[in-house]
Amino acid sequence: MKINENTLLEGHRVVLVPYNKHHVDRYHEWMKSPELQLLTASEPLSLEEEYNMQRSWREDDDKCTFIILDKQRWMDSSLEEEQCMVGDVNIFLTDPTDPSLAELEIMIAEPSYRGKGIGKEVTRMMMNYGLTKLGIGKFQAKIGLDNQVSIAMFKKLLFQEVSVCKVFKEVTLELTVDKSIRMKLLDDMAHVKEKDYRQTCSGRRELRSQRRFSRARSTSS
Ligand SMILES: CC(C)(COP(=O)(O)OP(=O)(O)OC[C@H]1O[C@@H](n2cnc3c(N)ncnc32)[C@H](O)[C@@H]1OP(=O)(O)O)[C@@H](O)C(=O)NCCC(=O)NCCS
Repeated sequence: MKINENTLLEGHRVVLVPYNKHHVDRYHEWMKSPELQLLTASEPLSLEEEYNMQRSWREDDDKCTFIILDKQRWMDSSLEEEQCMVGDVNIFLTDPTDPSLAELEIMIAEPSYRGKGIGKEVTRMMMNYGLTKLGIGKFQAKIGLDNQVSIAMFKKLLFQEVSVCKVFKEVTLELTVDKSIRMKLLDDMAHVKEKDYRQTCSGRRELRSQRRFSRARSTSS
């Protein structure tokens, strides 16, 4: 989706940025993990296929994706964005006749970042984005029956089980955004700052080159 191609969302512990070409190498490395393939029901892709996938996430009108960055590392402008990557979060518009229905997916790819509340924070940020920017009124999550952590997380976020597919060993959880859920989400996410992504990137690049320049000056004097 093009709508978020220049959007940066800053939360408490994470920063969400659009999925760009320079993220693909690290993403591809993550997806070599058999554990992640199993938990996310994904097939391993070649690097070229991963680049095509990134392009399709950007271009297709039914898909919206953000890369999750560790905010603390991202605030250190000496680090490249790729060094701050933690995972990704996606929204799919699954029903062409109902643009208010979306499937939500999240992956905290870096194991050391799991179990610290980041999954919950990112999912709510994405729900808030879906609600306010994409007009989503109902979210679904399709989760492997063995993925107890993910099932527990979505239930904590008030998703309810609506069906189990024994063939695919998958449960579908759903949340309809009624007035009270909407009010609470808007209230809880009021701290999220939306920024111009390209401007923020050039600001970080500028700081990096200033630092290199002053380092070069101090070593030459
Ligand atoms: C599933 C996943 C998104 C959860 O994110 P997370 O950052 O690890 O989870 P959080 O720390 O935000 O915890 C959210 C809830 O999940 C549950 N949870 C987290 N870690 C858990 C664990 N080790 N065991 C059981 N439940 C756990 C808890 O209910 C927790 O809520 P609480 O802290 O209020 O009790 C993340 O672990 C992940 O991406 N795993 C690998 C890929 C994956 O499974 N993706 C989902 C595919 S559907």
